[in-house]
Amino acid sequence: MASTPNTGFMSRLMLRKSVAQVQHETETSQLKRTLGPWNLVFLGIGCIIGAGIFVRTGNAAALHAGPAVLLSFLIAGVVCALAGLCYAELSSTLPVSGSAYTYSYTTIGEFAAWVMGALLLLEYGLAASVVAVGWSGYVVSLLGDWGIVIPPEFTGPAGQALVRGGAPVLDAAGNPVTTIFNLPAFLICIALSALLVIGVSESAKVNNVIVAIKMTVIIAFILIVGWFVMQNFETYSQNWQPFIPEPTGEKGEFGWSGILRAASIVFFAYIGFEAVSTAGQEAKNPKRDLPFGIIGSLLVCTILYILVSIVMTMIVNYRELNVPDPVAVAVDALGPEWAWFAKTIKIGAIIGLTSVILVLMYGQTRIFYTMARDGLLPRVFSNVHPRFKTPWVNTILVGILTAVAAGFFDINTLGDMTSVGTLAAFGIVCLAVIWLRRTHPELPRGFKVPLYPVLPALGIVACFALIFTVESRVLQFFGWYVIGAIVLYFLYGMRNSLLQKGLMAGPAKPHDMPVYPEDQPGN
Ligand code: ALA
Repeated sequence: MASTPNTGFMSRLMLRKSVAQVQHETETSQLKRTLGPWNLVFLGIGCIIGAGIFVRTGNAAALHAGPAVLLSFLIAGVVCALAGLCYAELSSTLPVSGSAYTYSYTTIGEFAAWVMGALLLLEYGLAASVVAVGWSGYVVSLLGDWGIVIPPEFTGPAGQALVRGGAPVLDAAGNPVTTIFNLPAFLICIALSALLVIGVSESAKVNNVIVAIKMTVIIAFILIVGWFVMQNFETYSQNWQPFIPEPTGEKGEFGWSGILRAASIVFFAYIGFEAVSTAGQEAKNPKRDLPFGIIGSLLVCTILYILVSIVMTMIVNYRELNVPDPVAVAVDALGPEWAWFAKTIKIGAIIGLTSVILVLMYGQTRIFYTMARDGLLPRVFSNVHPRFKTPWVNTILVGILTAVAAGFFDINTLGDMTSVGTLAAFGIVCLAVIWLRRTHPELPRGFKVPLYPVLPALGIVACFALIFTVESRVLQFFGWYVIGAIVLYFLYGMRNSLLQKGLMAGPAKPHDMPVYPEDQPGN
């Protein structure tokens, strides 16, 4: 045990865990190194493809960018690639497994790690709620195809007018129906957290099967709808007139400001690639394969997303896409004989979205677990169930939080909050790369961000620029969230941190960044 008393306000805020300490925490790991480069790409795709493409693209095109949503995907893809390169460098430099929380703790220090923890609650916890709402949209639609109708009041957030096919839904008395609660979204969060409590998480094999299903559905969509478009290109290309709809005068509604607003919306579709960096202990050759997995999965998804948005905005007019199941609506345009394909897409989307919720909730529970073990959250968050060996209290809490958010809030507000939080987290990761190069230039780096320092600096600027394209209501909410998190750090985190108390297990070299033995020249 170390017992370094730490004085000095700034040095306390920037107290760092040494890599040796993180290694000590993970060295009892029994995980086998079984994942090759393509397994890692698949792992990334497993987390990436979800509600972003299956749901939010529709809203981004219909209300903000029109057919030019494909430019939004391109912009968001470039921003993610910049952050992805930074994740790749950190994952190949710091021989630790873990999320951006651990990277921040070992580079910039405890305060940054705490803020990162708060941002990751948006990136994982809240994102799980967004995907659950998307899941609910596809489930309600599929059940409707089979003649099973869930009362519409229980299929949306509190207090929202229910709209179907662009028109308000009216009750028997002719009054607009207002939704009360999204029951399916609530239930899926509770059900999946129950599964996580009893220890069901996806193995690499199951992940590969689910990725195969998602990719098949998406590629079939691109090929079949694309074929239709090509048959009648003259007619369908009318839907691209104009490619960039005239701005309405409201910020973020069409024109270039709309394209940027849509970029912050579809940015959600890329979240998840960084999950690859959490597989450090299971990768056969982490230094080479982690960067490959991160950049590879991003590249594959960017290409698929752009193709999906091209065919989707050609086959139907972008104005028709503000629905809970836009991909299915695009297939409906092929005619009633393709109804089986629309149903297949819905089933594929439901399977894919279920696995994304599971992975995101799992990630959130492990972040809470690590923070509790560091003393930054109450110890109960790291309690492990004697029989199931899972952090059960924390998993139940994550289940309740995500279920309530999914049940009562609308997907656009939740999704924007997730995007903003994740963009801020990515900005900090880019900063961590610059920080580490300056403080520890001697560390061997398996992968280096090219054109340093231009690309990481651009990453920081791009992430923050995109944050400011979201609605000011969401920005204000985010500002208060971060302020609340900071206050909580001083009230709780700083006072209970094991590192601050000098009680962190493992070699105490908080200001030192030891070099991994096999990285030494000559090994
Ligand atoms: N990128 C993931 C999704 O779109 C979070 O659902």
